[in-house]
Amino acid sequence: MTHQGLFITVEGVDGAGKSTAMEWLAEQIAAQRTVVRTREPGGTALGERLRELLLHEKMDLETETLLMFAARREHIAQVILPALARGDVVISDRFTDATFAYQGGGRGVGFDKVLILENWVQGELQPDFTLLFDVPLNIARARIAARAKQTNEALDKFENESFEFFRRTREAYLKRAEAAPQRIAIIDSTQSLDDVKRQISQAIAQRAHLNLHIAP
Ligand code: TYD
Repeated sequence: MTHQGLFITVEGVDGAGKSTAMEWLAEQIAAQRTVVRTREPGGTALGERLRELLLHEKMDLETETLLMFAARREHIAQVILPALARGDVVISDRFTDATFAYQGGGRGVGFDKVLILENWVQGELQPDFTLLFDVPLNIARARIAARAKQTNEALDKFENESFEFFRRTREAYLKRAEAAPQRIAIIDSTQSLDDVKRQISQAIAQRAHLNLHIAP
């Protein structure tokens, strides 16, 4: 049986706890299908260079938005579209919902400008399924601080942003989920990892068109 490619994205504010669950999901799917794991900004050699700039250099907020989409275009052309054409499952750690949330909401660039770039850069391409990891901001902030202490790594430009920035970012994410409930599943990641896995399995089971079968 030939499979159609499937494009899955994983989203949430910094500290929402997407990494471990995403790894688990990729393993589950890899038992049945070829999985391409990737991330944004990044996912290509050029994209990873742009990521360095985006995460560490100060820049005008419109420049930031344009560079996110420049990296995205490269990612789509070099990685995402070829993988989907092969019938693979692409799992991307962040995609355009992040630009709507962080730049559109958090930075205040506005959703209309992001929409113009989305249409230009993506054409028809949209994720088939998106997991939005959500936690109250005090928990997200505490997780970022704990991780920085544990790894002894400095916070990047976004992780260093204000509570108010993250409040706007989270609100924009939730608004997008509300507008596209069929595509975006909100995962309450205040719960244990087992509970998060159960929520993910359920969200996938509810979407039969994805044709994925994950053990609960
Ligand atoms: P993140 O995915 O959180 O990586 P890590 O888990 O290694 O810290 O880092 C990417 C950061 O980039 C994150 O803070 C969100 C931000 N970002 C945007 O602001 N806009 C975007 O369009 C994307 C893709 C990411």
